[in-house]
Amino acid sequence: MIFDSHAHYDDKQFDQDRDQLLSSMKSNQITKIVNIGASIDTTRKTLSLADAYDFIYAAVGVHPSEVDCLNEESFGWLKVQTGHPKAVAVGEIGLDYYWEKDPARQEQQKYWFLRQLSLARETKLPVIIHSRDAAEDTMELLKQEHGIHGVIHCFSYSKELAQEYVKMGYYIGVGGVVTFKNAKKLKETVKAIPLERIVIETDCPYLAPEPYRGKRNQSLYLPYVIEAIAQIKDCTLQEVEAVTFRNAEELYGF
Ligand code: NI
Repeated sequence: MIFDSHAHYDDKQFDQDRDQLLSSMKSNQITKIVNIGASIDTTRKTLSLADAYDFIYAAVGVHPSEVDCLNEESFGWLKVQTGHPKAVAVGEIGLDYYWEKDPARQEQQKYWFLRQLSLARETKLPVIIHSRDAAEDTMELLKQEHGIHGVIHCFSYSKELAQEYVKMGYYIGVGGVVTFKNAKKLKETVKAIPLERIVIETDCPYLAPEPYRGKRNQSLYLPYVIEAIAQIKDCTLQEVEAVTFRNAEELYGF
């Protein structure tokens, strides 16, 4: 059984065949999926998907590039949604300085990151962290905010930083990138941290693994990610599948 810990099936790239695709998941061993909100609008869509499919769960939250949709009113709405019976996490939240270079707007990202971290603490939900070109600030804020657990999704930093997050109790999210020939840093990270701290993810429709690199991603491609991890860790596919499934269940509190 495979657990896709991070997917965006609300994305318009799935509009043509969403139901057909999702209906084929269980017979292909994909038995649990967490769909991730990235804005108020996509959080709403995520919750409808969770209502419609028994194996889909929801993360509610606003991505750093989407914080313009947040104000006291919409934040209040978000807070209410954490009480939805299938809401299992706050995310994806964090900092993205790759797409945002303006210091004033980076401050705004930090503000709403902190607000959503507090929401996670208050509701005892895990967080799904998106962090790009913002390693230092992300670590600083997560160190400052105690009593929070979760996953660093689509991990893109050094193995040393991954080890530090593991020490803090975080899981490391690994997806299609691990199959890329030039993904030296991520392969080193996977080697350096225990399998017990890795969860697998698609981040679909983005980041499809080889041999589908550049195409639309989906959960049925996760066996390629499992294969790459098994190779690096020198263990069986079954072991990677079973351990990462258990990890994701533990992360999301199943
Ligand atoms: Ni994502």
